[in-house]
Amino acid sequence: MCGIVGYIGDEQAAPILLNGLTKLEYRGYDSAGVAVYDGAEIRMEKVSGRLARLKELTDGGLTLPGTIGIGHTRWATHGSPSDTNAHPHFNSDRSIIVVHNGIIENYSALKQDLIRRGYEFVSETDTEVLAHLLDRYYRKYKSPLEALTRVMQKVEGSYALGILFKDFPGQIFSARKDSPLIVGQSPEGNFIASDVPAILQYTRDVFYMNNEEIAVLSRNEIKFYNVDEELLEKTAVRIDWDINAAEKGGYEHFFLKEVYEQPKAIRDTISPRIHENEIVIEELGMTDEEICRVGKIMIVACGSAYHTGVMAKYIFEGLARVPVEVDLASEYRYRDPIFDRNTLVIIVSQSGETADSLAALRESGANGQKVLGIVNVVGSSIAREADNVMYTWAGPEISVATTKAYSAQLAAFYLLALKFGLARGAMSRDSYQALLDDLKRLPEQMEAILKDRQQIQRFANRYLAADHIFFIGRGIDYAISLEGSLKLKEISYIHSEAYAAGELKHGTISLIEEGTLVVAISTQESLYPKTVSNIEEVKTRGAFVMALTSEDNRDIEKVSDFTVYIPKTNRYFAGSLAILPLQLFAYYVSLGRGLDVDKPRNLAKSVTVE
Ligand code: F6R
Repeated sequence: MCGIVGYIGDEQAAPILLNGLTKLEYRGYDSAGVAVYDGAEIRMEKVSGRLARLKELTDGGLTLPGTIGIGHTRWATHGSPSDTNAHPHFNSDRSIIVVHNGIIENYSALKQDLIRRGYEFVSETDTEVLAHLLDRYYRKYKSPLEALTRVMQKVEGSYALGILFKDFPGQIFSARKDSPLIVGQSPEGNFIASDVPAILQYTRDVFYMNNEEIAVLSRNEIKFYNVDEELLEKTAVRIDWDINAAEKGGYEHFFLKEVYEQPKAIRDTISPRIHENEIVIEELGMTDEEICRVGKIMIVACGSAYHTGVMAKYIFEGLARVPVEVDLASEYRYRDPIFDRNTLVIIVSQSGETADSLAALRESGANGQKVLGIVNVVGSSIAREADNVMYTWAGPEISVATTKAYSAQLAAFYLLALKFGLARGAMSRDSYQALLDDLKRLPEQMEAILKDRQQIQRFANRYLAADHIFFIGRGIDYAISLEGSLKLKEISYIHSEAYAAGELKHGTISLIEEGTLVVAISTQESLYPKTVSNIEEVKTRGAFVMALTSEDNRDIEKVSDFTVYIPKTNRYFAGSLAILPLQLFAYYVSLGRGLDVDKPRNLAKSVTVE
């Protein structure tokens, strides 16, 4: 987590840094800071709280002269979100200053050693160790590059760094290991950043940094080195994103904008992969024979991406008759999984930088597993390290709570399951064709649901003061419950739980009392009577039931108090429609409670720590 930026060029640096940090706030937003060098003095301003406070304090950066600088927006790991713990961090004589994204795992031992050597610490952060360690090696070797490589060899953990040395007024030093970092190049100046949107306004020519690489930026030149200080040749990549995709475009929140972008995200993900009614996924890198040899699929991910895996299990097993295991990346990496050469591991990630998912990928690769990444951010670590990568073309997702990337991940799974189903002979060509037609219709059906959001808003407004909300469903509807519940709790701070509808009576039903809201999802025809019985069970105990079902199940109104209908589609794809009202419900509860929908407390968009 945390976002870093750096700029060296002709313009005043601070406004550019603040602008870049605005685009990185999704990575952390509990404190922020900038440091700018005007050739005489390194000036620093940092504050706890949102970036807006820093902007106010520096009059949008105008009070800080200088054309070279670094900036940081923080998601606290070591030390509370205070002014002192905010980045940047200086060494003692204020001649070296550092911004850092990542975690220095051996910081405690390093700190003790530095204290023994007479270094004094002012913050509780792991990052301050870097500033003092750089100082120690710089004094010894007199070369900033040598000091940096020594530090890199000494520290354990992850980092993306931006560093200024007072003795080198024309340079920014930067390095990365296991935290994202890009370097941007333009005729007017050069940049470092944690992510592309931070610099997209200034340049589209970007170098992706690999692990343990160093970049030294001056006004007209960028040099890359490895830890042995050998020069590296790197080629810039041209970014062709639409810049507006990273702006709110008239919506009050990115969340709502991204909810409305879901039909497009699905279209963009499926259309390029359907040629003359045939699904073609070249990037899968597997022949039909290889697909037939797959004995098991292992889906590994975190959070909402994990929920797409739970859904994919039902879909792959139903359509392609291939066994699927789904695991949370944070569990998988430490549970000593059993590897087998016929298992296909699929790592799902919007950001492509989630630390646990990346570690799961590496663990699988080290054990000889073939790994497919389903990733949204082009050029991210998971995309680059997986054997094959299938991109979800959702575009940049800014709101911390995912919506369109989640939907695009589901679409990627639909394509894969259909492809596997046909290749493995688990479905007839006619069924394949019918499913493909349903899949192509999904974006239009989503648009129809999104046309009417007022009824959900009105309903949500009745639940602004709820303490607990339950989501229940069976099969695919259970997978949707998991996501609906997570969306609600993360942006509304209302406690909520998702339960397999049949499981409620084994304990949790004791929590249902007069007026408890239970959101019951029932899109699966064969399970409909069972879910209706479960609704009756909670109603008998006083629950208020919001039912979410297909438009031909009107008789559900006999047991529900409020019903939302979605158009009829194939049962395997119903989740993509059912999730929309649940996202809107979470949005309007959060809005009604006056919360920061796009940046909920304690969270960050890209979770690059364990
Ligand atoms: C929830 C949410 C998170 C992410 C999770 C994985 O709205 O966004 O649960 O899904 O942190 O992130 P990625 O997909 O970037 O690996």
